[in-house]
Amino acid sequence: MNVFPAEFLWGGAMSNVQAEGGCFADGKGLNVFDTLEVRKEYGQESVDNSDLAANHYFQYEEDISLMKEMSFKALRLSIVWSRIYPTGIEDKPNEPGLAHYEKVIDRLLEAGIEPVVSLIHFDMPDYLSKTYNGFYSKKVVDFYAHHVETVAERFKNKVKYWITYNEMNTATMLQSKLVAGASIPSGISAEKYFRTIVFNTQLAHAKAVAIIKEKAPEAKVSGMINFYQIYPKTLSPKDMLAAAIANDFLCLLTFDIMTQGIYPPYYEEFLSRCGMEEDDREGLEIIKRSSEQIDFLSISYYQTCEISGPEIEDPLEFEKSVIFRPQLSMNEHLEKTDWGWSIDPSGFRKVLSTLNQRYHKPVFIVENGIAGDEKPDSRGVIDDDYRIRFYREHIKNMQDAIESDGAEIIGYLAWSPIDFLSSHKEMRKRYGFIYVDSDHYEDHKMKRIPKKSFYWYKRLIESNGASLYEVSE
Ligand code: BG6
Repeated sequence: MNVFPAEFLWGGAMSNVQAEGGCFADGKGLNVFDTLEVRKEYGQESVDNSDLAANHYFQYEEDISLMKEMSFKALRLSIVWSRIYPTGIEDKPNEPGLAHYEKVIDRLLEAGIEPVVSLIHFDMPDYLSKTYNGFYSKKVVDFYAHHVETVAERFKNKVKYWITYNEMNTATMLQSKLVAGASIPSGISAEKYFRTIVFNTQLAHAKAVAIIKEKAPEAKVSGMINFYQIYPKTLSPKDMLAAAIANDFLCLLTFDIMTQGIYPPYYEEFLSRCGMEEDDREGLEIIKRSSEQIDFLSISYYQTCEISGPEIEDPLEFEKSVIFRPQLSMNEHLEKTDWGWSIDPSGFRKVLSTLNQRYHKPVFIVENGIAGDEKPDSRGVIDDDYRIRFYREHIKNMQDAIESDGAEIIGYLAWSPIDFLSSHKEMRKRYGFIYVDSDHYEDHKMKRIPKKSFYWYKRLIESNGASLYEVSE
């Protein structure tokens, strides 16, 4: 029996800062991705150019035609904040930026592809990050709300699905420039930083929900997390406890607050034991109201990991150590990608079942995929069988979550339609169904070449998932 409803949203997802290039085109301002320095931190040999990326800003029509050929039902894209408000503080938006996304969205609709819009995806104007320390400041929440207001007003009649904030749970990482435009100020404790970022990003999300719902009551709005299930490294009680704490604080806290509109007891207790309380009552009210308005939950899923509990007796210090200095490692029972990420399809089913049991809301998978360092062979072909295997196993597990665990899933968006820069600016970390020849930039174009997985995924979508078992590599 086919478990996927006819309206299931199959498709792909992208982050526009990682794909577009055109750093200064049409009045765009620099954002935190453009200015991110990764060379030292990640020991990469080279950092590719975000001014070029995959040249999607200039080749979007060709890319959308290829997505149409793949029979995409939906595409997740992000409207780059610094294209609309170059520094973030302007009163009036940058019209050429808005006009560009209008053309993109119109082209998608013409192609029968539902746009799913992310409102912040590594694209905070650099000025806001440098001047206000990003979402560590409440002022930035207001600048963000102003941006959302503009985008929602312009696209309220064209966009039905909205994602307020990409991978919001990772905004609390102590150096979260890319996600929150912020880093921990000197003299501030890790718990104070955590609490401030949790609150301000929840408030930003809540304001975005309210704005969109006011402008387009029929729109469907969600928050989003990166759900990286954390297993205990061993069956020892301290590892088991560490895993429970880490899953709550590092992954699920974001959805717990968004869906309940209040702090869950484990978090409230933690704050009070740290001697902190939340005092912005008005903000908490806004967060509460938005919890009644969100329609679905969205996640990215790539991998799982494991955790060891620290040798600490004091319960509060144990908890702090797990939250702020988690001892994470890779599960030795799992295969790894070329970048050392574990491949865990049954973890995917576990994640979907957990969400179903904990929140009783529809779930939209808006990122899942695998990267490899690929080149066309002498025939000009890219045989990415490993990618087909990855998708087949993950989609089978999603099917099991629906069929056996009762999960309600509204769509699956693969990361990604085309190759583009990774979050650490590496072009050689390729995720696409479509190869982008970034070594040859001729006539202001990079050639697009469908990989083998392109045809596999096309067939899967066209059969609404039924070809999963018949298709061979
Ligand atoms: C997600 C992000 O965390 O993972 C994407 O939302 C990112 O923007 C993706 O590209 C894959 O990670 P990476 O580091 O391999 O690009």
